[in-house]
Amino acid sequence: MHPPNRSARPSGRTRLRRFLSILSAAVVAIGVSAAISAPADAASTLGASAAERGGRYFGAAVAAGRLGDSTYVNILNREFNSVTAENEMKWSSTEPQRGSFNYTSANRIVNHALGQGMKIRGHALLWHQQQPGWAQGLSGSDLRNAAINHVTQVATYFRGKIDSWDVVNEAFADGGSGGRRDSNLQRTGNDWIEAAFRAADAADPGAKLCYNDYNTDGINAKSTGIYNMVRDFKARGVPIDCVGFQSHLGGSISGDYQANLQRFADLGVDVQITELDVAQGSNQANIYATVTRACLAVSRCNGITVWGIRDSDSWRTGENPLLFDASGNKKAAYTSTLNALNGGSTNPTPTPTPTSGGPIDTNAWYVLVNRTSGKALDVYGLSTA
Ligand code: XIL
Repeated sequence: MHPPNRSARPSGRTRLRRFLSILSAAVVAIGVSAAISAPADAASTLGASAAERGGRYFGAAVAAGRLGDSTYVNILNREFNSVTAENEMKWSSTEPQRGSFNYTSANRIVNHALGQGMKIRGHALLWHQQQPGWAQGLSGSDLRNAAINHVTQVATYFRGKIDSWDVVNEAFADGGSGGRRDSNLQRTGNDWIEAAFRAADAADPGAKLCYNDYNTDGINAKSTGIYNMVRDFKARGVPIDCVGFQSHLGGSISGDYQANLQRFADLGVDVQITELDVAQGSNQANIYATVTRACLAVSRCNGITVWGIRDSDSWRTGENPLLFDASGNKKAAYTSTLNALNGGSTNPTPTPTPTSGGPIDTNAWYVLVNRTSGKALDVYGLSTA
């Protein structure tokens, strides 16, 4: 594209006015086309699109037992650039007998992910559920020592392979108390969570260490209790890097979902959407898009993980809460999520300004750019004479 011959152009403000009217017409056209569909050069898979948005990931919970299903694996490899083991890294799976560790199922997922260049979220080192029977029968310092040893052993074993670990899962109570949930781990002392984070940090200093929970999808008593813990950890130097928001959602989403992510980010931790699934219903596609836009709007939101691939893979039997139907076809929720990732209907109409800072420079060429695709449309010169 060659700049026009400046001497042949109309001069002064006429030219500027004409430029601005061309620009606003173009902006209107861009706004309309962007609202209808994503730009032609937009990424066509969830993972690739998320990667283009600040190096974010788009992941799925994976079950080792499904890795022999070619439909499942094809979607996984095509669409996702991060995995979480749905059950295979939990305490009952990795330490079925005290001091005897088994990583066979976890490694099927880890090796698949590494072979595909995917990130791995580790899930979860300590949780009140899915504990092995032997741990359920312990208490006091015996349980505390066993729990910390578990954290150390598992985090050491996977050192260097895990992007982010859910060090502690679901330790806060539901309802209005904002306090801790009662559990055998909680009864070992209120400092069990920080002890777990310190042990994980010593074992794998390169992994991001997350606290993960549900019913935290907005500013409420539970999320505020967690917020206060994270603020306290940061103030006292307890090594916490991220907070996971499971986001198992029903037919609506809290209006302050994004604001809640942002208030945690403002504490100096990353945030991640870790187990997203949304009950099927008229709002499903919108809710997926809303969550996606919220993550993109928070610079410290690293990525989104959906809790399964096809509806038939979901733990929420009968709710069809995922992005692919039982046959592996893309649902409307898939399309709305990909469009949101691609910024298709999310960019506000750009304000037509001929410069991005400072007065008009009559010696400069101005490039008219489609702000959605980044493509140059034309080149203009301006003069004030
Ligand atoms: C679920 C799995 O999806 C099921 O297969 C299993 O039977 C129970 O656990 N919060 C979590 C996840 O942190 O580990 C849970 O996963 C879903 C709720």
